[in-house]
Amino acid sequence: MFTALVIDEKDGKVTPSIQTVAEDQLPAGEVTLEARYSTLNYKDGMVLNGIGKLVRSYPHVPGVDVAGIVRDSSDSRFSPGDEVLVGGYRFGEIRWGGYAQLVRVPADWIVPLPKGLSLFQAMAFGTAGFSAMMAVDALERHGMEPSQREVLVTGAVGGVGSIAVALLAALGYNVAASTGRPEEGQYLRHLGANTIIERSELETVVSKPLERERWGGCIDNVGGSTLGHVLSQLGIGASIASVGLAGGSTFTGNVMPFLLRGVNILGIDSVSLEINKRAKVWHRLADVFPLGLLESMTSEVKLQDLEKLGKEILEGRVKGRLVVNVRG
Ligand SMILES: NC(=O)c1ccc[n+]([C@@H]2O[C@H](COP(=O)([O-])OP(=O)(O)OC[C@H]3O[C@@H](n4cnc5c(N)ncnc54)[C@H](OP(=O)(O)O)[C@@H]3O)[C@@H](O)[C@H]2O)c1
Repeated sequence: MFTALVIDEKDGKVTPSIQTVAEDQLPAGEVTLEARYSTLNYKDGMVLNGIGKLVRSYPHVPGVDVAGIVRDSSDSRFSPGDEVLVGGYRFGEIRWGGYAQLVRVPADWIVPLPKGLSLFQAMAFGTAGFSAMMAVDALERHGMEPSQREVLVTGAVGGVGSIAVALLAALGYNVAASTGRPEEGQYLRHLGANTIIERSELETVVSKPLERERWGGCIDNVGGSTLGHVLSQLGIGASIASVGLAGGSTFTGNVMPFLLRGVNILGIDSVSLEINKRAKVWHRLADVFPLGLLESMTSEVKLQDLEKLGKEILEGRVKGRLVVNVRG
């Protein structure tokens, strides 16, 4: 038997509760983990609140990330005692996830814990950090360099945003952070932002096809009207990595920035990236991120806190990253 946060569904309404679950309820898979930590991402907030049709069947254990220790494995790549992490492939959505003390997954989904990271730090990054790293990789593959204009991060006080700001700054970029919480300016500057921009400045629907060239790149966690607006301000050849939709999933824009400035929108999909490329992203993140900053953007919470926090993250009220101690 083990403890898990389980979501039950009745008449279309979902209810999370802490339950004791029998091990034989776990899904099939080659590797069973003793979970130590999970995280709260925006998508977890959606699952906890039954939004977005992300879950196929109930009862369901959410948690799109987990870090833990292999308890047993029928796959020769993993042995008892190995420290590992799992995220992506719709773990925690169409399959039971990390809000549990015991987790079973296919061996092909597992990334060995990168050297230099603790299990806690791996979950302080979680899908948020992983996606921020993917976004930087994609922007750099498309020519972004520190010597160019400032790089913008939208939704900067959130999980992906906080990590993106610190990551870009550590790589030598000049970072502009856009936020609806200007009172967090000092926090963002501590992470490495040079310029703080009010969210309202960018979320108005853009009226001109081209505005002044302002950004050497953008990691956009917000979508909506902000994406179209930022598009009109990208420098020649610059790109936006489209990561999130916290401000809306549709956007209005103009094709002129594509035609007259050769800009790009790069889609970031952290779920489907194949496992070898996944491990590379994790390793770069562990190598380049200033781990001293991770603590200042991370709080530890318990399974019992997640119902409340799952609502707060959807309302844009969570700051930085939350690590879930599933044994706390
Ligand atoms: N593509 C992928 O693979 C992938 C992976 C991870 C996450 N995501 C997406 O990335 C986004 C961020 O995820 P997260 O876990 O970092 O969530 P988060 O911690 O809640 O961060 C989202 C941030 O967006 C801003 N925001 C919230 N509501 C807004 C609104 N109505 N209009 C404009 N800005 C708003 C807030 O930042 P400020 O207070 O600073 O304005 C908030 O902190 C989510 O949409 C998530 O689904 C996608």
